[in-house]
Amino acid sequence: PLVSMTDMLKKANAEGYAVGQFNLNNLEFTQAILQAAEEEKSPVILGVSEGAGRYMGGFKTVVKMVEGLLEDYKVTVPVAIHLDHGSSYDKCKEAIDAGFTSVMIDASHDPFEVNIETTTKVVEYAHAKGVSVEAELGTVGGQEDDVIADGVIYADAKECEELVKRTGIDCLAPALGSVHGPYKGEPNLGFTEMEEIRGLTGVPLVLHGGTGIPTKDIQKSISLGTAKINVNTENQIASAKRVREVLAADENVYDPRKYLGPAREAIKETVAGKMREFGSSSKA
Ligand code: G3H
Ligand code: ZN
Repeated sequence: PLVSMTDMLKKANAEGYAVGQFNLNNLEFTQAILQAAEEEKSPVILGVSEGAGRYMGGFKTVVKMVEGLLEDYKVTVPVAIHLDHGSSYDKCKEAIDAGFTSVMIDASHDPFEVNIETTTKVVEYAHAKGVSVEAELGTVGGQEDDVIADGVIYADAKECEELVKRTGIDCLAPALGSVHGPYKGEPNLGFTEMEEIRGLTGVPLVLHGGTGIPTKDIQKSISLGTAKINVNTENQIASAKRVREVLAADENVYDPRKYLGPAREAIKETVAGKMREFGSSSKA
């Protein structure tokens, strides 16, 4: 069933695992992620960036596609449809009105007081409809769709405390050295800050840029209060690799089902592996 992230993430914190947010890019991604979740008996968060939402037709198309698959696949595990890196109050409202059960308002690039103001407005609208809210502080490196950073700025612990207390958000993404897209070398995550922020805020923490983070860092993050880990690039790489293999092996393939079907399998395997790594398998 469709739910917000609130109970999902509280349970994850209490039981020491993280729920994966896997980003949707098209129908096959959505199918693969839902199939993996159902087979693994894992809760799951479907992440939709504004760019991917546009690509698929719009937020309404995304919600109806997900609802259709939940019925056709007889999905029993908890599923959240979450706006990833929402850029404004209006975009968050549009997603909520279309049926999203969760939104992220990413006003991390704005001055602190503006971030608080925008996030507060989103929380008021969202909570009245039972929708959960994630906010961000600091800067996640790299690039994802419209979200481009030229550097990494670590979140400030005191600001995190104040943002959570003044806005009432359900979970917080403090940028602590993670990067969207592949890492150049090993990530250098700020675990000391993570522990401090968790202690000061008490809310479930979110780790963006989940692609390429070693298992030991994943485990450490979970032990320090991380309850949600976002993964997109790794699924995209797995899917593109499989399409290349299929097309390279046989020049006569033209039916999209013949290459997108195998790509869907590759995504499903990758997602299932992440669910086991994050410890969310059998937790639905
Ligand atoms: O918001 C989505 C994520 O932070 C995805 O990051 O593409 O590096 O896995 P990634
Ligand atoms: Zn992100």
